[in-house]
Formats: sequence, structure tokens, C-alpha cells
Amino acid sequence: MTPARRRILVTSALPYANGPIHLGHLVEYIQTDIWVRFQKMRGHDCIYVCADDAHGTPIMLRAQQEDIAPETLIERIGQEHRADFADFAVEFDNYHSTHTPENRALAGLIYQRLHEAGHINTRVITQAYDPEKEMFLPDRFIKGECPRCGAQDQYGDSCEVCGATYSPTELKNPVSVISGARPIERESLHYFFKLGDFTEMLRRWTTAGHLQAEVSNKLDEWFKAGLQEWDISRDAPYFGFEIPDAPGKYFYVWLDAPIGYMASFKAYCERTGTDFDAYWGKDSQTELYHFIGKDIIYFHALFWPAMLAGAGFRTPSAIYAHGFLTVNGQKMSKSRGTFIMARTYLEHLNPEYLRYYFAAKLSNGVDDLDLNLDDFAQRVNADLVGKVVNIASRCAGFITKRFNGRLSDELTDRDLYDDFIAAGPRIAAHYENREFSRAVREIMELADRANQYIDECKPWVVAKQADGEDALQAICSAGINLFRVLMTYLKPILPRMAEQAEIYLNCPPLTWEAVLAPLTAHTVQPYEALMTRVDPAHIAAMIEDSTSSLSTATAPATGALLDNPIAPTINYDDFAKIDLRVAKIIAAEQVPGADKLLRLTVDLGGEIRNVFAGIKSAYSPQDLVGRLTVVVANLAPRKMKFGLSEAMVLAAGPGGKDLWLLQPDEGAAPGARVK
Ligand code: 2FM
Ligand code: ZN
Repeated sequence: MTPARRRILVTSALPYANGPIHLGHLVEYIQTDIWVRFQKMRGHDCIYVCADDAHGTPIMLRAQQEDIAPETLIERIGQEHRADFADFAVEFDNYHSTHTPENRALAGLIYQRLHEAGHINTRVITQAYDPEKEMFLPDRFIKGECPRCGAQDQYGDSCEVCGATYSPTELKNPVSVISGARPIERESLHYFFKLGDFTEMLRRWTTAGHLQAEVSNKLDEWFKAGLQEWDISRDAPYFGFEIPDAPGKYFYVWLDAPIGYMASFKAYCERTGTDFDAYWGKDSQTELYHFIGKDIIYFHALFWPAMLAGAGFRTPSAIYAHGFLTVNGQKMSKSRGTFIMARTYLEHLNPEYLRYYFAAKLSNGVDDLDLNLDDFAQRVNADLVGKVVNIASRCAGFITKRFNGRLSDELTDRDLYDDFIAAGPRIAAHYENREFSRAVREIMELADRANQYIDECKPWVVAKQADGEDALQAICSAGINLFRVLMTYLKPILPRMAEQAEIYLNCPPLTWEAVLAPLTAHTVQPYEALMTRVDPAHIAAMIEDSTSSLSTATAPATGALLDNPIAPTINYDDFAKIDLRVAKIIAAEQVPGADKLLRLTVDLGGEIRNVFAGIKSAYSPQDLVGRLTVVVANLAPRKMKFGLSEAMVLAAGPGGKDLWLLQPDEGAAPGARVK
């Protein structure tokens, strides 16, 4: 029986339009895209929309820094985001922006309805104000000493040393990160959404199966603390939508961001003639799912359903939160070269390797996902190349050369094929439940069985037997049919490889339904390899391209240090672990094939080390020989594409030509400790 055709609308969180997509973002887009492709393959009417999140202070400041209009900035970044997603085969039915007429209209409408229903409050609040820049300062744009423990350089909302939370007015010796000026306090009228009005509705909604169990439990803590009014306005200057009838007041970026889901869908409806109200109306019978990261649960599981309900729209069917990405077991870091941009990855590696690896590790929970780069290469090579592609390549040659591409008239070994088909509903259930790692495990077990079948039938032996023609054709046809089933099951994860397989198999698009019937008495096309092995040298080159010794860049960009924020404070013991030494550069040379590196030989007072330093853009080797510099002497040696790097040279500056080696004064002895 064909299951009823479902109508499903799916979203991923909207990326901010002030920076590039990186691998951390891609966990979510790949997860969502796999789920959407699966639904489409099953014949459901599934629409996937997203947009750039284009408003807010960081975007306004970034545009000012580049001396361009914010509209120009968000247009450029929007293009980059679209290209990155397309190249990772993340296929939206509509990709929009929150800075659009549709979003302005919908944000205005929702606000107006909430206002009319009495869910908006106004009151005057006191806030930090930058007298030089003439703007109110968001908490993260103020730094100072923690009022509890005295730690320096803490943000305006919380201390990273002692964990205290406070208001920016409590910070000692505060400075504006934008201008360096001391903030003053200033009053302003703000608009608030009365979240508390929705306490009972939200209590019911958050425990009615719309959320993962761990998310629902977490929300319980927030209910206990009481739902606070939410400040939804910001004062000019601000890049966003002005609140209707409130000149100089703007919607806070997080008010119109989720409305961007609706706006993107609205644009889709206008383009395709789809009925918007059928999806967003109060009594909608369609399904609505938001895929998000676990850091933005509060906005999606509390504010968003309350806003929708308060404004007379339907609420989501479910919110699916996922964990963060770590690389090699640690937070992504620029200095380790593991803060990898989507574009950098694409310059070195096949995007379907990453789609497969993420799928192989994704569950439906909120646990973090680790991209271990050795495991990544090993897993892709073993599974996709060693198992799946191997099945096709072991059979295809015989079918092409000996049978002119013709598959046998009947499928022998039907039991094995039937077992593959019998696994279909289980694999589909795993996809449906977002248990992609389970789906992958089952598929790879089937791939092992197909390879065992070929091992046992030994087509290469049968091929030499005088009367082996029919048997050879039957074995290889069975192998190719098993490959076809596997590619069907992998298609949501590997859409490009599946498309190549469809061309080779010369058959209509692969679906669960289509593979119920095997290909018999059918001619396939000449075979070309469908995937090549991951080359570890390409991973090393990607890491090198992502490496910067200048910052760890995990904190949000802020003000004067917009692209290079001060890292969280460390204690003295942490600092004391770093052994800095004066080093004399005794040789320097180009590294063939490296874009950024020079090879330095340094003398640490008798101990000679080989160091690769990313300073080629700023220094010629001949200018370096004889100079003193400072190195981290106890950094674990790093195996790089070009050899072993046995220390790290310290340099300052943003990069390119603007890079300066740290140089001790004349007279410092090589090997001397830097304190
Ligand atoms: O956290 C973020 O990156 C936000 N730009 C996500 C917004 S999702 C939605 F609500 F718009
Ligand atoms: Zn503190």
C-alpha cells in the first residue's frame, strides 16, 4: 500500500550574513538536506526553505568597517552562502534573506497582532551607551573587570573565569569594544513581548512530543525560573526593521529571524502558486519542522511558538536540535587549522565525503559530533570506495566487455536481492527518525554481504571457464543489481554519486519503490569510477590553508577587535606550560608546493629544530637568515604534508604582507627562556 502523501515544510537555522559558512554550520544543513531528500524520494511533498539572517549590530558594524552599505554586505555574503550550500549539494526550495519585503510585512503583522492582543509592554530601561560612537551597546560589546572575581577583560554579561552573570552596569572599569570609550548609562523606551502570558500554553506544548526528551527536560529549568518578558526592540542606529509607529526603534534581530522562515516560504509560494495559509494557518494540517543547533533552543522552543500562537498562526510540529561539531576531539581552532571554511574544504575534498561522514555519525540526539580527520579518511575509503564502489567495479567490466552492457534476462540469487529489499523499510525508518548512523550501518552490512557474494562466486575465475558465459553474466548482473539497491538507500546522503550511478545504470531515478523491481534484460552504460579515495595529502593541504597562528577565533567578533577578539582569560599555570625560547634562524627556504609556508632551521642554543612557518607572504627566506625570533619550543611536533614541524614561530598581524616576526632585542642568547 502506498503511504499517504504528506505535506511537509522544513527549515534550517538562518546563518548570519556577516561571515562565511564553516564545517560547524554544515552539520545542520547536511542533516536537514539528507532528511528532506529522503522525504522527497519517498514521494512526499516536502519543501525546504532557509534564508540569511541579515540584521543586527554585528552586521551593521562589519559593513561600517568595510565602508559599504549593509545591504551591499548582506548581498555579497548571501551569494557566498548560496554557492557554498549548492556546492555541498544542500538543495533548498527557496533561499531568501530576512531583509526583504516579505519579512518586513510578516514581522509587522505578527507584532501588530501581538500588540492588539495585549502581549506587548513598553517601559524605560537604563543601558550602557557609547558616547563616542553614539549608540547603545549590546552586552557583548562591553568589556571590563568581573564584579565578583575581578578577572580582567570580561564581557558585559558574564565572566568566563568565575561563571558569574551580571548586567553590564555592574562591570568594573568598563570600556566599549567599538571605540574604547568608557560607556555611560542612558535611558531608553523599550518594547517587550510578554512571554509569561504563554506560560500554560508553553508548558503544554513543550511536553507534548514536539521536542526531544533532553530538550524538554532542559526547558523545565526555565519554567521553574519563570518566563521573563523579552526585550524585542533596539534603538537606532541599528540595521533591521523599524517598528511600525515607533520611530527610531527597531525590531531586535531575533524577533524577525524566525519570521524569516515564513518569509522565505512566502516567496516560495509566490513563485510556485502554493497556498501559504495551508501551511501557516491556525488549523493547518501540514507538518512543520525546524532543524536547529542546541544553542538556540530557547528562541525556538519558547519565544517562537508563543509568538506564533499569540499572532494566530500554527505552531511547529517539532523542533529538532543537534549538537556542535568538534574536530579531532576539540573545539574548532584557527591555530590548529581545524576552523575550516566550507570553501576551503571544497578546494581540496569531495563534498560527498563529508556528507557521508556526518551521516555515519549523526543520531537524533543533541550530542556533539566529532570530525576526526584520520577516521574520516579511513571510513570514507573503507566504506564508500572499498565496499560500495568496489561492488560495481568488480562486476561492471565483465558486463561491458563480455556482454556489451547487457544484464541477464533473469535475476538469479533472488534470495539475496530480496533480503536487500526487506531491509528497505528498516533503513527508511532510521532516516525518518534522523538516526542516520543506524541507516548507514545497515547499508554497510548489506554492502559487506554483496562483496561476500562476489567473493564466493569468483566471477574472475568463471570468466576463464569455457562454458562460464551465462554464469558470469548472472553473477555480475546480480552484483550490479545489489549495487543499485545500495545506491538507492544511500541517495539522500550521496545525491551526486547516486546521479552518476543512475547514468551508469541507465535507469529512471532511484527510489525505494523503483528498486522493488530488479534490472533484467537491460543495457547499462560504460562504467566510470564513481568515487576516488580520500588522499591524506589533500586533508593536510586543507589544514594548512586553514591554519593561522594568529588567533583562535571562537569568540564572537566585537568592535575594535572585531575580527581578532581577545581569547578567554587563562590562569598563570596555563601560561607557564608554554615554553617560549629565543631562536636563531640559521637557514630559511621555500617549500615546493606550499602557498604559505617557509621552512626554517632554528637554533635553540645548540638544539636545532625544523619549523614550518606560515610567513611566506611577508618574508623572503634570504631576509630571515641570521635573525633572532621567538618560538614555542614545547609544542608537540606536527606532521605536515611537507615534513615534521618541531616548534612554532611567533608572529603578529592580520596576515598577508602585514605579518611581523617577534624579535627579541640584540644580545638575547638563542635558547634563552622568554618570560
Ligand atoms: O544563531 C544563529 O546563527 C542565528 N542566525 C539563527 C537564526 S535561526 C532563526 F530563528 F532564524
Ligand atoms: Zn569573575
